[in-house]
Amino acid sequence: MSKITVSLIKADCGGWPGHATVHPALVATAEEVLGAAKSSGTLVDFNVLACGDDIELIMTHTRGVDEAEIHGLAWEAFEKATEKAKELKLYGAGQDLLCDAFCGNIRGMGPGVAEMEFTERIAEPLVAFMMDKTEPGAFNLPIFKMFADPFNTAGLVIDPSLHHGFIFEVWDIMEHKKVLMSSPEEMYDILALIGAKSRYVIKRVYPKPGKLPVEEPVAVISTEKLYQTAGTYVGKDDPVALVRAQSGLPALGEVLEPFSLGHLVSGWMRGSHNGPLMPCSFDTAHPTRFDGPPRAIAAGFQLADGKLIGPVDLFKDIAFDLTRKRVLEITDYMRAHGPFEPHRLPMEDMEYTTLPHVMNKLKDRFEDTD
Ligand code: F6R
Ligand code: MG
Ligand code: MG
Repeated sequence: MSKITVSLIKADCGGWPGHATVHPALVATAEEVLGAAKSSGTLVDFNVLACGDDIELIMTHTRGVDEAEIHGLAWEAFEKATEKAKELKLYGAGQDLLCDAFCGNIRGMGPGVAEMEFTERIAEPLVAFMMDKTEPGAFNLPIFKMFADPFNTAGLVIDPSLHHGFIFEVWDIMEHKKVLMSSPEEMYDILALIGAKSRYVIKRVYPKPGKLPVEEPVAVISTEKLYQTAGTYVGKDDPVALVRAQSGLPALGEVLEPFSLGHLVSGWMRGSHNGPLMPCSFDTAHPTRFDGPPRAIAAGFQLADGKLIGPVDLFKDIAFDLTRKRVLEITDYMRAHGPFEPHRLPMEDMEYTTLPHVMNKLKDRFEDTD
């Protein structure tokens, strides 16, 4: 059976207004570009969504990951959307397109990328997660819970096909190194790393020998850090992820359950604040209170020979209403701290924001203490 590749590539091409949402004309422009690629056979299928000010391209094809034509197609969609954004004078048009011309691989050029190639099962449930006003490490807690926490994923305890656990690929995004770790055997070591979510991020999850091929990922997360690419703060690296579910993997409900916490993430307002992550419906992923609070949407699909049967708006479920209410209460509480940590990020993380410019002007006024 031939393999299918799912590529989820995102970029902020301009906000409407400010950094709040994506104008429908930009979504339509991206759809036009991807529609032509589907007609010509480059793509099997696609879906364009928006989360906050980010355009999200979900594409299926048979060309594998890191493929120049697919990345070039995404770049073209973002460039045309940027042209449209400039025409409408939207805010920060082309914000995430950090290079003038496409050079073969979109990674390192600004957009975020999560893609994986795998053998499509008889029935293949897939969830595309998209977040706004936060960073790649925001996925550490929910991905860990899905694939390693028996209090979240009942299947780890009671389903023999999950009982032996999963392999985590963790990246040190400062040192550009990676390590493969086995859960549950190395669970405490995994947590020692990924609890430091601004540095160690889960990149992929693999199955152990069993029902599924061990070399094919079951989850992948974008890890691009914009400031590393641009050399300066240009916006937040709002992350995306793809997660496969069911039959030897966490059930759909086990994949979604970690988001019922509304966990604290970094990236809210000027990329400089911690706040609770709100799981929300597609049509409420418009962060406008203090440019937040940070949002997550989840698009559910069944794959049918690469065709994307969906999306289902998974966080629209009223079962997430109490989470949203709690997130709003935590929002009030965090906001009351104003410029004080831990609402504001610690100094070492502020290094990549605009704060050092303010600090610079004070540095000559400091004298030695007694
Ligand atoms: C956060 C975000 C916004 C902006 C803020 C200031 O990721 O996008 O909170 O940082 O609105 O934006 P500028 O500097 O463009 O006025
Ligand atoms: Mg923006
Ligand atoms: Mg954004």
